[in-house]
Amino acid sequence: MSPKLFQAPRGTNDILPEKQGYWRFFEATARDIAARFGYERIDTPTFEDASLFVRSVGEVTDIVEKETYTFEDRGGNLLTLRPEGTPPVGRAYLQHGMHNQPQPVRLYYLGDFFRYDRPQAGRYRQFHQFGVEVIGEAAASVDSEVIEFALLLLESLGVSEVTLLLNSIGDSHCRPAYIDRLQAYYGSRSDELVHDDCRRRLETNPLRLLDCKTDVCQPLIAAAPGSVDNLCDSCAQHWDALLGDLGALGRSYEIDKRLVRGMDYYSRTVFEIVPPDEGQQSTLGGGGRYDGLIELLGGRPTPGIGFAMGMERVMAAIQESGTPIAEDVGTKVVVAHLGDESRSAGMLLASELRRGGVAVVPAPAGRSLKSQLRYASSIRATHAVIIGDRELEKGTVVLRDLAGSEQREVGRDELRALLEGH
Ligand code: HAM
Repeated sequence: MSPKLFQAPRGTNDILPEKQGYWRFFEATARDIAARFGYERIDTPTFEDASLFVRSVGEVTDIVEKETYTFEDRGGNLLTLRPEGTPPVGRAYLQHGMHNQPQPVRLYYLGDFFRYDRPQAGRYRQFHQFGVEVIGEAAASVDSEVIEFALLLLESLGVSEVTLLLNSIGDSHCRPAYIDRLQAYYGSRSDELVHDDCRRRLETNPLRLLDCKTDVCQPLIAAAPGSVDNLCDSCAQHWDALLGDLGALGRSYEIDKRLVRGMDYYSRTVFEIVPPDEGQQSTLGGGGRYDGLIELLGGRPTPGIGFAMGMERVMAAIQESGTPIAEDVGTKVVVAHLGDESRSAGMLLASELRRGGVAVVPAPAGRSLKSQLRYASSIRATHAVIIGDRELEKGTVVLRDLAGSEQREVGRDELRALLEGH
């Protein structure tokens, strides 16, 4: 019996060559937009101390309670595969003394993240995010900047049919009173709280009740008091300034009072970007302010705000929108040969051409010329260079243009000039 074929682990994806064009397009566009906004790239490790996420995301959150990949390494260190990028960037900001640089610091990142989620379309256990963080500026003008960044990036990717959902969850001054109101509201309707998780959260983290996705909780959520109606003066001013900025930028939004986001570090502005009339697992991106996070990680009180987009979800939206993706159209040459001697001459020629900057792929050995040329077409080569005994003797090659199917005999120098100049 032949051995069982391996499958990629549940919730992970292979990104096959034919999909790479979308990824290149996303990455190039994101880098370009980041440069236009003056953001610099940061890369952080794939795993971090487990306690970084427990402390920042919060103990009573889905991510920390149910979704982290946490393991002990051989040295007994408890590590977590990063479920998101904000705490690692906060950690790096402090570790590398970025708080001593002129503030704010504007950063972006792009990479893979891990959550033990229930896999379904658009929800994976290993997924990719593009994210930005602006650390060290409290003014609402960076809130609108970050939102504008997210929307312009999506537009540049051809995804402009989106809705911006916006909320403010207040800060450490006004949130406790709001949470008391929320708790009193849910307390008075506790017989309608049928889920164990929700009952528990009423005691441990009432804000999370607004995040519940089950149908039975939706009427309760709809009638719950909203945080935007319970802001203190300074949070209300920040909120008004943000709405004013978005108005000036001509950006429309929907205020969604149930938007609380999945991490405990958020304060004031939170937002999500969703395709029209779609459910939660199609949220393209989300973010918000985290003015307490840097202090929680051991720094001085320092405001921050950012967002992250799910690249697989945005990629699916790009495909749906039919945005044309530029193919790689550079010269690609296949060297075909007839016989052993011409094979080694072909190998040397390939080496020379590559040194001159030309992409060269050898045709498979031991096949007929017809089969070698068929292979050249299948890998979308633009040219074939054919070497046989006759050419070997004369020091020439046959250059075949695979698009036009024309061919002619040329000398080595002429060949290089033709291909390298392409
Ligand atoms: P998040 O809302 O957890 O925020 O994730 C941002 C985006 O990542 C989501 O909107 C979604 O597109 C994508 N995403 C999340 N989980 C999955 C999954 N299992 N499979 C596929 N895509 C997924 C954050 O991660 C925050 N760090 C954003 C942020 C940055 N807030 C401030 N700065």
